[in-house]
Amino acid sequence: MARQILVTSALPYANGAIHLGHLVEYVQTDIWVRFQKMRGHACWYVCADDTHGTPVMLRAEKEGVTPEALIERVMGEHVRDFAGFLIGFDNYYSTHAPETREFANLFYARLQAAGLIERRVIQQYYDPVKNMFLPDRFIKGECPKCGAPDQYGDNCESCGAAYAPTELENPYSAISGATPELRDSEHYFFRLSDPRCEAFLRRYTSRENGVLQAEAANKMREWLGAEGAHLLTDWDISRDAPYFGFEIPDAPGKFFYVWLDAPIGYMGAFKNLCARENLDFDAYFEPGSKTELYHFIGKDILYFHALFWPAELAHVGFRTPTKIFAHGFLTVDGTKMSKTRGTFITAESYLAQGLDPEWLRYYFAGKLSASMEDIDLNLKDFVARVNADLIGKYVNIASRSAGFILKRFDGRLAAADAALPAIRAIQEAAPRIAACYEEREFSRAMREIMALADGANQYVDNVKPWELAKDPARETELHVACSNSLNLFRLLTVFLKPVLPALADKVETFLNVAPLAWESIATLLPAGHSIRPYRHLMTRIDPKQIAALVEANKANLTAAPDVAQPVAAKTGEAGNTVIGIDDFLNVDLRVARIIAAHHVEGAEKLVRLLLDVGAENPRQVFAGIKSAYDPTALEGRLTVMVANLAPRKMRFGVSEGMVLAASGPDDATGGIYLLSPDAGATPGMRVK
Ligand code: 2FM
Ligand code: ZN
Repeated sequence: MARQILVTSALPYANGAIHLGHLVEYVQTDIWVRFQKMRGHACWYVCADDTHGTPVMLRAEKEGVTPEALIERVMGEHVRDFAGFLIGFDNYYSTHAPETREFANLFYARLQAAGLIERRVIQQYYDPVKNMFLPDRFIKGECPKCGAPDQYGDNCESCGAAYAPTELENPYSAISGATPELRDSEHYFFRLSDPRCEAFLRRYTSRENGVLQAEAANKMREWLGAEGAHLLTDWDISRDAPYFGFEIPDAPGKFFYVWLDAPIGYMGAFKNLCARENLDFDAYFEPGSKTELYHFIGKDILYFHALFWPAELAHVGFRTPTKIFAHGFLTVDGTKMSKTRGTFITAESYLAQGLDPEWLRYYFAGKLSASMEDIDLNLKDFVARVNADLIGKYVNIASRSAGFILKRFDGRLAAADAALPAIRAIQEAAPRIAACYEEREFSRAMREIMALADGANQYVDNVKPWELAKDPARETELHVACSNSLNLFRLLTVFLKPVLPALADKVETFLNVAPLAWESIATLLPAGHSIRPYRHLMTRIDPKQIAALVEANKANLTAAPDVAQPVAAKTGEAGNTVIGIDDFLNVDLRVARIIAAHHVEGAEKLVRLLLDVGAENPRQVFAGIKSAYDPTALEGRLTVMVANLAPRKMRFGVSEGMVLAASGPDDATGGIYLLSPDAGATPGMRVK
C-alpha cells in the first residue's frame, strides 16, 4: 500500500552559506526521499530557511540592508546551491512567512491555555551602547574556570567549561565592546519541567518506543535522569526587542525565540505546499494520523527535536514525529573543516570549480549509515573511490557495449538472457538493497551494488564482445552479449537512481526508456527495443580539480586566523608599488570619532577603540598605538579609519577596521602619529 510520508531536513540559518557539512544531511535526506518516491509512495520533502534571530539582525545591519532583504538574498543563494546538488525539495520555504507566524501564535495560545507558559523576570546582560540585551554568544570575557581570555558567554573553548554569561570575568559585548550591565527583563517560558511534559517525554523517547536511534534514546535517558530526578528545566521562548522575529501576540516588544518558530517552520512549509498541491494538511498533522513524519537532523540539535518539539506538539494537539534521524558531523581528511586549510568547502565553490555534484552524492552515500557517527571526507579517497566505482565499474559496463549495438545492430537490442547469473543476482538483491535504503544503511547498499557491478563486468570480461566483433560468424553472440550487458547496466541504474538522479536521467534518455521506478528491476528490455546514441555519461575526477577546490576555499578566507596583531597602519617604505585610482577608491576611508578607548588586558601594544563613523553602530578597532597614546587622552578626538576592511578575529575580540597613523621605521626612532582631519570634518565623511 502506498504510504503517505512527510520528510524534513533541518532548516539552515539565513545568515550563512551552505557548505559540505550541511550537504551530508541534505544528500542523506534526498536519497531517502527519492528512494521512497521510486517505490511509489507519496513522499513530500519540505525545508525552509531559518530566518530569525539576533545574528541575522546584526548581519543585515552590518551590510546596511533590512533583515527582509538579507534573508531574501540568502534564500536565493541557498536555493541555487541545493538545486546544484540535486536536492529535490517539494517545497523550499522560509520561516518568515504567514503560515509559520500563524502556527507559532497557535502553539503559544494553546500552550498558554494548557497552563504550560509561565512569565518570569530574569536578569540578563544588556549592552548600554548598542541598547539591547545580549545573547550568550555575543558576550565575551575571561573563562571563570581557567581564565582564558576572549571566551563566549556559554562555554570556554579552551577548557570546555560550561557556565552562565554572568560568571565571565571582565565581560564585554562582542558587538560594541562596551561593558554589559545586568538588567531585569520579563521572559516567557515553556514549562518543560511540568510533570505532564516529563511523563510524555519518558514514554516518547524511550528505546522501546523506537522513535530515536538507540544512541539518541540513551542520551535522552541521561538528560531526563532517573524517575523523579526532575532534571528538565523550563525553556525560555521569548527575546526582547530589538529582535528579528515574530512579535508575541499579547506582549509588545517581546518576540518568539528563533528556536521556537524554527521547527514550526516545517509545518509552515508543508502548509504552503498543501495549498499548492491540494493536499489535506490535517490528515498529516492530526493526532493519531496514519501518515508518517520524519525529521533528519544533525546530532547537535537533538535536544530541540527530541524534547522541546515533541513536547510542544503533544500538548498543542498535533501528532508527534514518527522518527527522528540524527547523523554525525562531517570531517575532512580526518579533522574538523578548517577555513585556513581550505577544507571549509562551500557548496558554491564546489560547483563553481566545475565538480560534478553526483561525485559527492555518491561518496557521501558510500559513507552514510543509520548511526550518529561522524563521517569523513578523505579527499584522496574521494578521487579514488569515485573513479574506481562510478567510472571504472558502473559506467564502464555501458561504454563497452553501446557502440556495438549502435553500429552493428542499428541500435536495436536482442532479447536478454533472463537466466544469466549476473542478471538473476541483481534481481534477487533488490529486496536487500531496498531494506538498506529504507534503514538508511546507504554505505551497505553501495557496497552491494558495486559487488553486483563487479559481477556484470566479469560477464563482459568473459564474453569479450571486442573479440566476438572480429568474427562475422559470431554476430548473434555479440548481439546477445551486448544486449545482456546493457540490461545489466539498466538494472544497476535502478539501484543507483536515488543517489545519482541526473546520471539516471541521462541513462533513461540513452536507453530510451520511461523514468525508472523500483519495480523496473523485475523487467528486462524487450527484443527489438531501440536505444539512442551513447553520449558520455560521467567524467573521471582529476586530482588537480580537488587541489584547486581547496585553494579556492583558502582564498575565500575573510576572517584572519586567531592571532593578535595590531590593526593600526603598518610601518614601511613609502610608495614602491604603483596602483590605479580604482585600487585607491576601493579603500573606504572615513572620518571617525573615538568615543571610547581602553587598555587591553594582556596585550602589550593594543588599545581597544570604539569609533563613531556616522553609522548607527560604533565600530570596535584594536590599534597598536599603546606605546604612543594614553587611551583616556584619545576619547573625543577625530581620526581616519579604513572602514571596509574585512573584520578580523583577534585574541581579544573582533577588530572591525583600522585607524591610520604615520610612523618611522621603528617605534624607537619614529614614534606613532595618529592622523586627524582638519576642524570641521564630521564622523562618517569619506576621505578621498
Ligand atoms: O542548527 C541549525 O542550523 C538550525 N537552523 C536548525 C533548525 S532546524 C528546525 F528546527 F527548524
Ligand atoms: Zn576555560
